[in-house]
Amino acid sequence: MLPTHVQLVDVGPRDGLQNEAQPVAAAHKIELVHRLQAAGLKQIEVTSFVSPKWVPQMGDNTEVMAGIQRQPGVRYSVLTPNMKGFEGALAAQADEVVIFAAASEAFSQRNINCSIAESIERFRPVAQAARQHGLRVRAAVSCALGCPYEGDIAIDKVVDVARRLQGIGSHHIGIADTIGVGTAGRVSQVMEATLKHVPLAELSGHFHDTYGQALTNIHACLQLGIHTFDASIAGLGGCPYAKGATGNVATEDVVYLLHGLGIHTGLDLDALVDAGAYISGVLGRPPASRVAKALLAK
Ligand code: HMG
Ligand code: MG
Repeated sequence: MLPTHVQLVDVGPRDGLQNEAQPVAAAHKIELVHRLQAAGLKQIEVTSFVSPKWVPQMGDNTEVMAGIQRQPGVRYSVLTPNMKGFEGALAAQADEVVIFAAASEAFSQRNINCSIAESIERFRPVAQAARQHGLRVRAAVSCALGCPYEGDIAIDKVVDVARRLQGIGSHHIGIADTIGVGTAGRVSQVMEATLKHVPLAELSGHFHDTYGQALTNIHACLQLGIHTFDASIAGLGGCPYAKGATGNVATEDVVYLLHGLGIHTGLDLDALVDAGAYISGVLGRPPASRVAKALLAK
C-alpha cells in the first residue's frame, strides 16, 4: 500500500543552485526560499558551508541564512563537509546539517578530496557536535545507483556507507542517485537492502532525472512505503563533480505525481510553479519541470 502522506525536502537552493556557473545574488536565493515556504515546504536545504574555492556559488551562505524570514515549523538545513562547515552552520542558526558520503571511492576523492573512510571520520565530530547543540543530522549516500567514474556500485557498499553514517549519529539517511542512472528494479533492491538496517521513517530517496527515470524510481520507493524525498524546484541542479548529470527531479513534477496518487503533501502546486518560474527567470531559462511547462503554457 502506498503512503498517505509524503514529506518533500526542497534542495533547490543548495543542490540546485550550487552548480550554476552564473552568479546568483543572495537576494534571489532568499526570495526563492521565501517562495518555497509560502508554497508549503517544511524542509528546505538552503545552502552549504563548504569551501568557496570548491563551490563559489555557495560563498554567500551566511548572508543567505541571515536574510531569510523564518517561518515556524520550517526546517532550514545546510550541507557541511567538516567542522569548519559545522561552525558556520551553527553561527547561521541552521536547524539541521547535511553530511554526505559517497558509495564510490573515486567520487569521494573528486567531491571532497578524501576516501570514504576518511570522510566518515570527518563527519563523526560534525554529527556529535550537531547533536550536542540540538541540531538534526541528515546524511546522504551519494552515487548509490552508479558513479560517473566507477560505473555500477555494489548494493553492499551502499548499505555499508548508510550504516556507517547511521552509526555516527545521523537521524536520517538519504539514498542519492547523484547522476540519475538508476532504474526502478535496482532502486527497489537498494532500498530494500537499506531498509533492513534503517527504519522506514528515517530513509529517503534523492533522484536525478538524467535518464528520465526519477519519477518511476520515486514510485518504486512509494511502493516500499518510503515517504520522504528530496526534490528541487524547477529541476535545478546537476553536480559539479558528475559531468552530464541533469538536475534533481523537479518538485513540481513529484507533487503532480503524488497528488495524482491521492497522496497528501501539504504543498500548493500553483505556488510551486510560480516559485520555479521565478528562479528560472532569474537564471534566464525555462523551468526544467514538465509540469511547470505544461501549466505555464495554459
Ligand atoms: P580540501 O582542499 O581537501 O580541504 O577540501 P582543506 O581542509 O585542506 O581546506 C582547504 C581550504 O578550504 C582552506 O582554506 C580551508 O580553510 C578551506 P585556505 O587555507 O586554502 O585559504 N575550507 C573551508 N572553507 C569554508 N568552509 C568550509 C571549509 N573547509 C575547508 N567548510 C573540502 C575539502 C571538503 C573542504 C572541499 O572538498 C569541499 O568544500 N568540498 C565540497 C564539495 C561540494 O560541496 N560538493 C557538492 C555537494 S555533494 C552533492 O551535491 C551530492 C549530494 O547533493 C547528493 C546528490 O546530489 O546526489 C549530497
Ligand atoms: Mg542532488
